[in-house]
Amino acid sequence: MKRKTLRRKRQARKTRKQGGVRLGKGAYGRVYAPGMLCKGTPAQVTKVLNIGRDMTHEAAMNTIRKLKVISAKLNEIDPNQDFFLYPEFCDEEPTLSNENKGDGLTIYDIAVSYNMRRADKTLREAHKAEFDEADKMMDTIYESEDMEILRKKHRPEAEALADKFVVIFGKVKTLLDKLHSIDILHGDMSSQNVMVMKDGSYRLIDFDFSRINSTPLEPFQKREEMKNLVDMSLTGWNKIYPDLYTRMVNSPAI
Ligand SMILES: Nc1ncnc2c1ncn2[C@@H]1O[C@H](COP(=O)(O)OP(=O)(O)O)[C@@H](O)[C@H]1O
Ligand SMILES: [Mg+2]
Repeated sequence: MKRKTLRRKRQARKTRKQGGVRLGKGAYGRVYAPGMLCKGTPAQVTKVLNIGRDMTHEAAMNTIRKLKVISAKLNEIDPNQDFFLYPEFCDEEPTLSNENKGDGLTIYDIAVSYNMRRADKTLREAHKAEFDEADKMMDTIYESEDMEILRKKHRPEAEALADKFVVIFGKVKTLLDKLHSIDILHGDMSSQNVMVMKDGSYRLIDFDFSRINSTPLEPFQKREEMKNLVDMSLTGWNKIYPDLYTRMVNSPAI
C-alpha cells in the first residue's frame, strides 16, 4: 500500500516536470506551462514540435536553429518581451522527449524549452464576441436567398463591427511594424499567433516561419502580412461588404 502511494506520487511529479498544463495547440506544436526543467530552473513554457506529421526531424532541427538567430535579433529590440513572446533557449541542443512517451507524446517529438512569458488568450478568444458576431452575420447573409435584403438590414451592425476590427487590428499592426523595422517577416500571421496578455496588451508569437530579409522590406511585403491576418480573420467580408472590407484594409491604422 505504501509502495503504491509512493509510485503514484513519483508519476504525478514526472508529468508535471514534462510539461504541466497544455496552454494551446497549433498545427506544428503544443505549448505547455510550466515548462520543462532548464539548467535547474523551469522554463516558463515548453513547445513540443509535432514531428512526423507535417514536419520531419530534419525540418524541426532547422526551425530551431533559425529560431535561435531570430530570437537573438528580437532580444536586441525587445529584451523584456513587451511586444514579442520569443523563445529564450535553455538548452544548447533540444532534447528528444522519449521520456514523455507515457504522457501521450511520441519518441519522435522534440521538446523545446523556452523562457517565454505566459499569455492569457489568443486574439480570437480575447475578442470572441466580435469575431463570433461577424461570422454569424456573414453566414446568415451568405446562406440566404434574400441576400440583398439581409445585407441592407445588417449594414449598421457591420459598420460598427468594422470600426471595432480597425481598432483591434490596428494594435497588431503596431507590433508588426516593429518587427518589420528590423527586416523580419513574421511568415505566419493569424489570430492564433497574436496573444493577449492579462492586462489587455498584445504580443506576437510563433516565429517558426519567420525570416530575416537580406534587403530592406518592400511596402508590399509588409502589407501582405497584415492582409493575411485580416483575410483569415474576416472571411466573407470582401464578398458581402466589399466597401467595408476595403475600408478596413486601407485604413491607416491597419
Ligand atoms: N506564451 C504563451 N502563453 C500562452 N499560450 C501560448 C503561448 N505560446 C503559445 N501558446 C498557445 O499555443 C498555441 C500554439 O503555439 P504556436 O507557437 O503558435 O505553435 P504552432 O507552430 O503549432 O502554431 C498558440 O496558438 C497559443 O494558443
Ligand atoms: Mg501558431
